Amino acid sequence: MDDRRQAHVFRGRSTLTRVVSVPALFGAAWLIVSLSGLLYAQLREPAPGDPLTGVTPVEFEEFRLGLDDFLEVETADEGLGPAFNGTSCAVCHSVPAVGGAGVIAEVRAGRRGPRGEFVALYEGNESLFHLFSIPSHTCQPVIPPEATIVARRIPIPLFGAGLVEAVPDETLMQLEDPFDTNRDGVSGRAAIVTDRASGARRVGRFGWKAQHATLLSFGADAYRNEMGITNDLFPQEFALGITRDRMRVCDPIPEPEDVKDLRTGRRGIDNFASFMKFLAPPARGPIDTAARIGEQVFGAIGCAACHTPSLTTGPSANPLFNRRPVPLFSDLLLHDIGTGDGIPQEAGTPEEIRTPALWGLRFRRPLLHDGSATTTEDAIRRHAREAELSRRGFEELRDADRDALLAFLRSL
Ligand code: HEC
Ligand code: HEC
Repeated sequence: MDDRRQAHVFRGRSTLTRVVSVPALFGAAWLIVSLSGLLYAQLREPAPGDPLTGVTPVEFEEFRLGLDDFLEVETADEGLGPAFNGTSCAVCHSVPAVGGAGVIAEVRAGRRGPRGEFVALYEGNESLFHLFSIPSHTCQPVIPPEATIVARRIPIPLFGAGLVEAVPDETLMQLEDPFDTNRDGVSGRAAIVTDRASGARRVGRFGWKAQHATLLSFGADAYRNEMGITNDLFPQEFALGITRDRMRVCDPIPEPEDVKDLRTGRRGIDNFASFMKFLAPPARGPIDTAARIGEQVFGAIGCAACHTPSLTTGPSANPLFNRRPVPLFSDLLLHDIGTGDGIPQEAGTPEEIRTPALWGLRFRRPLLHDGSATTTEDAIRRHAREAELSRRGFEELRDADRDALLAFLRSL
């Protein structure tokens, strides 16, 4: 190639790059890839980990940014620690897809006072003992020998969390019956909490103790508590039994560690909230005749008194959340069914646990808040106190009806 032609080719290329810059080309290619992903996801029933059917491209972009942050493994340089339970959200929320649950249990501890009441092991009312810490210095929380309560809790899947968030407080208030005035033996309580994000009094619905009302607050709590990343809502590092000075040695990064991304203007906690908000609920498995009969048995023996088959979201300007059915099989209320973990938290007493949603049950093992039940039958047989009548109902079922009930539970 002679010099002139080479110069010409070079000039030609530079004109092209002037008109369509390389970043723009990448941007366009990326847009095509992500929009076709979105289109594909919208054409079939959502699989675990997919966004809600009907998200707009802008919402899909928020979901995708959130997913990135949810997957991101943090390091000490980015603020992980001083103590932590996991290095990303996804390490615990990954089964059967990102956003799901998992088997890693976190640990809370305390001791029983003279009247059997919970007493915190250190100042404050905290009970979380982190599993890990930044190894270079001693910032590892240790459960002291005075502990007489040690409780484990397994992760809760996040599929459909945006719909759960959109259920109005009033709906849950109407479901509660703290003094069992209808005398069915079931007396659920709405967990009234102060929402960190807004400061408002709200009905908590997320967490085994219904300790948070919003995804923004829960995600911010998790970022600090699970990973040690301080943020606008939880600006202080936390590690039980470790002095502030020592924490600063283990994690010298100034608070808050979660800062706005300069490109997107969003914080990590905003991204987590978007990811969880747009995660689709788990689709039902195949429903055969046995499952249909089983659903009636479920209602007849009183399971549905707490595992409310469906709630409805409130009015919303966003059609995705406007008066939508939420077939979660939970009333999101606190109940004492005799499985309490001994830990008081926010509105929840040591005896109470929030009714878990049963949608997606087929993807989830082990069961119960501490993972102590292997099968659905195990879990049902552990129901007592407020659920005494329905458990007895279950035990007295004829074989065919019990099989139908279990078939129904397998279809969730
Ligand atoms: C070490 C494991 C672990 C990590 C890491 C983790 N989680 Fe969780 N997650 C849990 C456990 C355990 C629960 C139940 C905790 C409870 O109620 O006390 C939970 C519950 C939740 C819930 C409540 C869901 C519901 O419907 O009730 C949300 C929301 C949540 N996590 C979000 C996050 C986010 C966001 C991150 C990352 C910032 C994260 N989690 C990191 C273990 C983890
Ligand atoms: C009084 C309220 C109440 C009634 C009635 C009730 N449950 Fe539950 N159920 C709960 C609570 C609360 C939990 C969580 C307990 C825990 O984790 O310690 C639970 C847990 C479960 C679980 C385990 C779910 C998981 O994700 O770990 C299954 C399965 C279940 N219930 C099925 C049933 C069936 C079937 C019936 C009827 C025989 C029934 N429940 C009746 C409140 C109730």
